[in-house]
Amino acid sequence: MAILDRHKKIETHATLLLTLSFLVVTIGGIVEIAPLFYLENTIEDVDGMRPYSPLELAGREIYIREGCYVCHSQMIRPMRDEVERYGHYSLAAESQYDHPFQWGSKRTGPDLARVGGRYSDEWHVDHLTDPQSVVPESVMPPYGYLADTVLRPTHIAELMETHRLVGVPYTDAMIEMASSDFIQQATEFGDPAVVDRYPGAQQRDFDGNPKVTEMDALVAYLQMLGTLVDFSTFTHEEATINR
Ligand code: HEC
Repeated sequence: MAILDRHKKIETHATLLLTLSFLVVTIGGIVEIAPLFYLENTIEDVDGMRPYSPLELAGREIYIREGCYVCHSQMIRPMRDEVERYGHYSLAAESQYDHPFQWGSKRTGPDLARVGGRYSDEWHVDHLTDPQSVVPESVMPPYGYLADTVLRPTHIAELMETHRLVGVPYTDAMIEMASSDFIQQATEFGDPAVVDRYPGAQQRDFDGNPKVTEMDALVAYLQMLGTLVDFSTFTHEEATINR
């Protein structure tokens, strides 16, 4: 057939084949990539997402400093086994205020994207102090020194300003109140303004020691992971397909 003959011409002529392949890939690339330059934002807005509170942000810094991401991911993939084990798959919006993101690439331990509320504060303190005391077969190292290290909010406002620089919508009021919010969130019956500024923030003495320690900050961070979006009311075309 005539059309197949013409195709033979392309397939037996390396330069022609390469030129035409390049053309096809270029058109495909332009169609896929060009629209992204005209979009304000490629992340779908999701109710409930807010910037980290000062205490949670400090906990996140400790998470990064200690290299927790080396063994833990924070990204639930949309596959049945993962969704059944960890809960609703992660949304892009859930890491929109993460600089840098903590998706991770290795799971020596479980995914932590929705660990918030799964265990009590005491469990976390015991587990971080001596993982084998609660999970005998655990290979996680101990981090007991976090409970002995008092954490002062000396640089928290600057840290928030830096995050604002890269697009996290911290308001002037949030930055002005950073040190106070930091202390108050780790205080039982502390100033309720923290929760007004950071809806859904959990406010209590996380490690049972009235001083604010690195343990308080890390547990506050772990306990909020995955708790901001209410998935019982969340609707999304893909979410419905997945159910
Ligand atoms: C050497 C790898 C390793 C490192 C580093 C590590 N973990 Fe783990 N983690 C594990 C393993 C393995 C488990 C599962 C056994 C257990 O519960 O201890 C685990 C479990 C956990 C759990 C319980 C999760 C669940 O759903 O049951 C939490 C929370 C946790 N780790 C937090 C942390 C934090 C925070 C850090 C950093 C301070 C950290 N881990 C560092 C290996 C690690």
